[in-house]
This record gives sequence, C-alpha cells and structure tokens, in this order.
Amino acid sequence: MSNRPALRARRVQFTLPTGTRKHYAGDDLVMSHFLAILSAAFPEGEDFFIRSVRNYRDQITDPELQQAVKGFIAQEATHRQQHRLLNDRLQEMGYPTARFDRHVAWLLAKLEKVFSTEMALAGTAALEHYTATLAELLLTDDEMLDLLDRSDVRQLLLWHAFEECEHKAVAFDVFQAVGGTERTRVRAMRIATAIFLAEVVFQTLRSMARDRASYNPRRLLRSLNDFRKSPLLRAETRRRIADYIRPGFHPDDWDSTEVLDRWSKELFDADGNQLVQAR
Ligand SMILES: [Fe+2]
Ligand SMILES: [Fe+2]
Repeated sequence: MSNRPALRARRVQFTLPTGTRKHYAGDDLVMSHFLAILSAAFPEGEDFFIRSVRNYRDQITDPELQQAVKGFIAQEATHRQQHRLLNDRLQEMGYPTARFDRHVAWLLAKLEKVFSTEMALAGTAALEHYTATLAELLLTDDEMLDLLDRSDVRQLLLWHAFEECEHKAVAFDVFQAVGGTERTRVRAMRIATAIFLAEVVFQTLRSMARDRASYNPRRLLRSLNDFRKSPLLRAETRRRIADYIRPGFHPDDWDSTEVLDRWSKELFDADGNQLVQAR
C-alpha cells in the first residue's frame, strides 16, 4: 500500500483566457490545439474514471484506500467542472471542444459496452499514468513551466497537474485491491494507449484544420517542429510511460513527494485553500 497524502477537493476559481489571443498557449499553434483537445477530453474522461472506480467501491475493505477513493472522486469531479468552464471559453474562441466532448462521451459508452468493468478500471489506472506523467512534466520541466508562464491557462493546469500527481496511485491501488491481474493491467495499458494516442493526434489535427493560422506554411512547420522537440515527446517521457508495463510497476515507484511539497506551498495556503494569484 502506498504512503499517499490525504486527498480532498479544493475550492478553486480561475481566470479564463479572455479570448483576445486565440493561441493562448504562448502563441503556439500546435500546443494551443493540443491542450484544447486534452481539456475537451477531460470532463467525459474523468466521469468515466469516477464510474470505473465507483463500481468497485464496495469491495474495498482498507479504510485508508476507502478515504482515498472518496478524495479521488471529489477531485476528478472538480476537474470536470473547471475544464467544462474552460472548454466553453475555448469553444467561443473557435476550438471544437463541444463536438469532441460529445465524441468522447459516445466513444466511452461504446467501450464500456464492449469491455468488462475490470478492464474499465484497468484502463482508468493506465490513463491515470498518462495524466500523472504529463502532470509531473508540467510541474517540473523548465520548458513546460515556461510555456505555462506564457499561457492564459497557467493556474488551472498547475492545479489540475498537482491533484493528478497527488492521486496518481488511487485507481491503480483499487485495481490491485480487488484482485486485478498483471496481465489485465498490461493489456489495458496497450489498448488505452492505442485509443488515447490515436484520438489525441487525429482530433488535434482536425482542430487545426479549422484554424486559418494552420494554413500559413512557415508558422505551421515551425510549430510542428517545436512540438516534435517538446518535453512531451522526449525519450525520457516515453520511457516513463512505457515503465507502466514493467512487471511489478507501481505509480509510487516515481516519487512525487518533493514535487508535491514544493507546489503545495506555491498554490495553496496551510489550509489547502487556493492562494490568490497575481496572474
Ligand atoms: Fe483530473
Ligand atoms: Fe486523475
């Protein structure tokens, strides 16, 4: 069992992009579309995570894990709310977040019919490894932090990243506690990876195709090249993602104590309330 922090949902409020700058992620074309697509996937995705974990709630006997599940559900529900607010604004700014939101709902409903609840839980644990990896990258990598500094979604993404990091082992521990096997875990990771990557790549390109700025060849090539070299696609990041299929892997093998410590001071006061942000 992991030595996890006590989880709770924090009350938060964020300044949304004003809409005056279409490419709100540091004026970067690809990154702005990529983050919009991720954000659009979150509300239905996190709803699916909640359902998948909730299915097994009654089978958990460890009180510490029961508490963690409660915190996990509360946190994901707040993420869903906040990303919906952001997605509405992104839609006004010309990003197809509403259409993709409906597509994710449709896709997940289909997958839930095809796969067992055990696979859904394993898939949740696998996707939580993606969010935790992305979260730690945002919270620790200088290039990603610089991008956030130049973006209009800094506070929201930092807060979400922080809580993803905080609860990264919960779905995984539930899966193990209810007897999930290594074979199912690894299989779910392979399936989740194929679907998640295909969707993100295809939908990002589709979103970009609707943006006039994408038809400026110099701008497009420069932005694609920057994205290719970004920390998201680094060999180290790919290795960390792939570590999930190692036999005996546990999310806490990647220690987040230091990163959580540092950011809890920056983002929240001693009672865990959001600090008023100057930007
Ligand atoms: Fe989340
Ligand atoms: Fe999560």
